[in-house]
Amino acid sequence: MPDRPPVREMKLWDPLLRGFHWLLAFFVTAAWLLGNYGPTSMTLHFWCGYAVTFLLVFRLIWGFVGPEPARFSSFLRGPKAISDYSRHFFLREPSYWPGHNPLGALSVIAMLAALAAQVLTGMMSESENFIDAGPLASSVSAATRKTAKSYHDFGADLILVLVLLHVSVLLFYRFWKREDLIKSMINGRKQVRRD
Ligand code: HEM
Ligand code: HEM
Repeated sequence: MPDRPPVREMKLWDPLLRGFHWLLAFFVTAAWLLGNYGPTSMTLHFWCGYAVTFLLVFRLIWGFVGPEPARFSSFLRGPKAISDYSRHFFLREPSYWPGHNPLGALSVIAMLAALAAQVLTGMMSESENFIDAGPLASSVSAATRKTAKSYHDFGADLILVLVLLHVSVLLFYRFWKREDLIKSMINGRKQVRRD
C-alpha cells in the first residue's frame, strides 16, 4: 500500500498493566452492578470496592516506577500536544501512537480520578438501612457521611458515562480508524510508526 507509513510492531503494555486493566474492568463492573442491583447486604460490594482500591494504589505506583509506556510522565501532555492530536482524530487511518495518545490520556486520568473519588466516598458512606458502613464512616461527621453518600451515588453514574465513552471510542478506533487498540491491551503489542 503506497500511502501506508512504515510501521513496526513493538511491545507496549507490560503484563502487570494488562492484568491491572482487566481486573479493574471486572471489579468496577461487579461493584457497580452490586451497588445498583445487588442484595441488601453490601459485603460483596465492599470487597469489590477494596479490590478496586488496591488496583488504583498499584496503578499510582506503576505510573512512577513501571515501564516507560505505563508512566504518567510518558503520556500526560500539554494543551498543544492535545490539540495537535485532536486535529487528526477523525482521519480514517490508524494513529500508530506508541501508548495512550494525548487525548486518550485525559480519559485515562478522568477514569482513575473518578474511581479514586468513588472508593474514598464509599468508605465514608453508610447504607440507607444503616447496617453497612464504610470503614471511615465512623471517623467523619454525619454531614460528611451524607455528602459522601450523595457523591457516591452521583459518581456511580459518572463512571458509567466514562466507561461507555471509553468503549465507544475504542470501537470508533477499531471500525473507523481501523486500529485495534483492544487487541493491544490483550497481547501487549502494537503497531507504531517506524522512526
Ligand atoms: C469502583 C468502586 C465502586 C463503585 C462503582 C460503587 C458503586 C455503587 C453504587 C452504584 C451504589 C448504589 C448507589 C445508589 O443507591 O443509587 C453504591 C452504594 C454504596 N457503596 Fe459503593 N461503589 C464502589 C466502591 C465502594 C466502596 C470501596 C465502599 C466502601 C467500602 C462502598 C460503599 C457503598 C455504600 C455504603 C453504599 C450505600 C448503599 C445503600 O444505599 O444502601 N462503595 N456504590
Ligand atoms: C469498567 C470497565 C473499564 C474500566 C474502568 C476501564 C479503565 C481503563 C483505564 C483506567 C485505562 C488506562 C490504562 C492505564 O492505566 O494505563 C484503560 C485503557 C484501555 N482499556 Fe479500559 N476500562 C474498562 C473496560 C474496557 C473494555 C470493556 C475494553 C475493551 C473492549 C477496554 C479496553 C481498553 C484499552 C484497549 C485500553 C488502552 C487504550 C489506549 O490504547 O490508549 N477497557 N481502561
